[in-house]
Amino acid sequence: MALKHVVWDVITVVLFGVWFGSAKASVSYDSKAITINGQRRILISGSIHYPRSSPEMWPDLIQKAKEGGLDVIQTYVFWNGHEPSPGQYYFEGNYDLVKFIKLVKQAGLYVNLRIGPYVCAEWNFGGFPVWLKYIRGINFRTDNGPFKFQMQKFTKKIVDMMKAERLFESQGGPIILSQIENEYGPLEYEIGAPGQAYTKWAAQMALGLGTGVPWIMCKEDDAPDPIINTCNGFYCDYFSPNKAYKPKMWTEAWTGWFTEFGGPVPYRPAEDLAFSVARFIQKGGSFINYYMYHGGTNFGRTAGGPFIATSYDYDAPLDEYGLLRQPKWGHLKDLHRAIKLCEPALVYGEPTVTPLGNYQEAHVFKSKSGACAAFLANYNPRSFAKVAFGNLHYNLPPWSISILPDCKNTVYNTARVGAQSAQMKMTRVPVHGGFSWQAYDEETTSYDDSSFTTVGLLEQINTTRDASDYLWYSTDVKIDSNEEFLKTGKYPVLTVLSAGHALHVFINGQLSGTAYGSLGFPKVTYSEGVKLRTGINKISLLSVAVGLPNVGPHFERWNAGVLGPITLNGLNDGRRDLSWQKWSYKIGLKGESLSLHSLSGSSSVEWVEGSLVARRQPMMWYKTMFNAPAGNSPLALDMSSMGKGQVWINGQSLGRYWPAYEASGTCGECNYAGTYNEKKCLSNCGEASQRWYHVPRSWLKPTGNLLVVFEEWGGDPNGIFLVRREMDSVCANIYEWQPTLMNWQMQASGKVNKPLRPKAHLWCGPGQKISSIKFASFGTPEGVCGSFREGSCHAHKSYDAFQRNCVGQNSCSVTVAPEIFGGDPCPNVMKKLSVEAICS
Ligand code: GAL
Repeated sequence: MALKHVVWDVITVVLFGVWFGSAKASVSYDSKAITINGQRRILISGSIHYPRSSPEMWPDLIQKAKEGGLDVIQTYVFWNGHEPSPGQYYFEGNYDLVKFIKLVKQAGLYVNLRIGPYVCAEWNFGGFPVWLKYIRGINFRTDNGPFKFQMQKFTKKIVDMMKAERLFESQGGPIILSQIENEYGPLEYEIGAPGQAYTKWAAQMALGLGTGVPWIMCKEDDAPDPIINTCNGFYCDYFSPNKAYKPKMWTEAWTGWFTEFGGPVPYRPAEDLAFSVARFIQKGGSFINYYMYHGGTNFGRTAGGPFIATSYDYDAPLDEYGLLRQPKWGHLKDLHRAIKLCEPALVYGEPTVTPLGNYQEAHVFKSKSGACAAFLANYNPRSFAKVAFGNLHYNLPPWSISILPDCKNTVYNTARVGAQSAQMKMTRVPVHGGFSWQAYDEETTSYDDSSFTTVGLLEQINTTRDASDYLWYSTDVKIDSNEEFLKTGKYPVLTVLSAGHALHVFINGQLSGTAYGSLGFPKVTYSEGVKLRTGINKISLLSVAVGLPNVGPHFERWNAGVLGPITLNGLNDGRRDLSWQKWSYKIGLKGESLSLHSLSGSSSVEWVEGSLVARRQPMMWYKTMFNAPAGNSPLALDMSSMGKGQVWINGQSLGRYWPAYEASGTCGECNYAGTYNEKKCLSNCGEASQRWYHVPRSWLKPTGNLLVVFEEWGGDPNGIFLVRREMDSVCANIYEWQPTLMNWQMQASGKVNKPLRPKAHLWCGPGQKISSIKFASFGTPEGVCGSFREGSCHAHKSYDAFQRNCVGQNSCSVTVAPEIFGGDPCPNVMKKLSVEAICS
């Protein structure tokens, strides 16, 4: 009987396997790891948020993630993208969640679905639809009936959809884990009892949906059983789950950080990221997810914040455009291979930890069947350490971990990067005849029927419900002919206080000034002399939102817009308060109501050509047509000649642009060693926070593409260029005797019996060739890719081998050994090779 069952089960599994393309598996966990069909797994995961790229990019991103050594793709589910108005669902285009998950499955990878539905994620309103705020009696993310009802409804909708498509692993699909809520722990702590009740409810609600796979809650120490609480951060080795029988999981290993308009661009060195991951694994961790593996783009008005930039590049291993970010991608790939070689020993149980020095430790994992893996760590951020382990000595660079999959040979050290680095460039694409622009003047004085009037000042989000970034506030001010200032020319000062985020002040239709806040301080104060004249003057304030908040205590209640007071100072009767007089309101721009961004809308009005176009006028729409450039390299718009606004191609929004907001901050040198935080390594100081705006190739037709720009401040559209993203140069930076996996494999297979020299591998992008060697030095070269220089020791034939083997090739490799470069230039000194080759 029992045997019959087994046989039948096997047949069913096989049949279903054939039927659905893969077998059903059971996913569970124990104290060590997530188990799939009873097997403990060390899982490497990476976040790719589907709406932050185009569906045409998905297969390539997933493939590159797989090649980079990932087992799992993690994504949030973006509620406000899927339910733009109550009960009206959208799952098309870059919101086609099912398609995305099926592509991951096709690639043979798993999915970690973070349903939330609160997601944070620098996404508008943290993923909540704005209409949610207007449900009577609602209170977000707490023990509140109306909120819980809506949260359950959406969560169930997603789970049902996944079930219907048989996407959970228990059904033969790729989803092995789901997340409910996001980082609720700190909020729960703050609000106490209702928070605790909500956590319990969320857990029960999720469990009740019967997905057949485990649920997780990140940053939530109170996660009720059987939900696994997980860690988010730059480092998570210190973390332990709330029960000994749960595995140690890291759901957000931050690969970099997001960019804000007005802020510098953060980056995180690959050596430190690899160090943090190795540190987590050596302390018994078994699941790690890179947040982000591909960050992508906040298209349209999806960026949160406020003031989150349109690029969500995140310094991720795949850059915003989907290209490999080197050396990060390659260095992590090598790390993943090293970790996987250790898997049999790692999954067996807890390591033994032995001190090897003041700041040095060995973590050794052993299985019953004899597998042994060791991690040798040097936590000292300043100096090398020579440690004895087993019968051998090991040299550990500062702030690094060496991985020994056989407890003997080092295959990888987190501070020794074997992967090549690449410098990217943005090359102008010649558009036939250049862009030829036409202009349309946005309305700044008269209002149409859609405007309304009321006494006093209105909060912006409650008024626009985020249908547009823009809200006009306008009022009349009467100036008597006997006003002193009319004679003295000392104009009265208009003071406007706004809750954010940006403000343009128009006096009688003329832009009189602009003010804006920042991520840390969205409030705005405008205070300047204004040119008023005798009679009725029109004061029009254009208040501009730059993304709704996505995080913070009661972020849903943050105000925006001109809340006042608004005063005029310097009149005969002193100060006049305008806050409580009649104000007229208009939601959005005239150009928006005419859909000027679309083909049909843009042809419904008269555009002017020539003279107006170059006059740097504020509040202008511009349009042009262009043909798609040949080739496959990713495209972007260089918007550096513009101020602030939005840009569309063929009716789709590339996002908000704001190159005129320069990055303030200090961008010093950045040493990988030592504890990282998001302020440590910055670039772009003094330049635009974001100059380039990604144009997905798939948005273009071969000919006749419509490009529309709306400019608030006054920019010169003749300075807008289409650019191609390509490799400029590639570098290798390899130490003598640097450990390599290849070396270890050759020895393990008995092909060689002594250590081999490492190799420098270089390769340019598809269709490119190495045209010249910009730099090569074997000895003690200094600097980084792009700015290498010779040190005191330099082999005189450093260039030769590269000239010979590389120039004219797409890729090449050269052994890093003294005899290749004409002999040892400085015996008994630790040497390395630095090389930079130009791609063209
Ligand atoms: C985390 C959050 C993510 C993202 C990240 C910063 O705390 O869970 O959604 O916002 O911070 O990029």
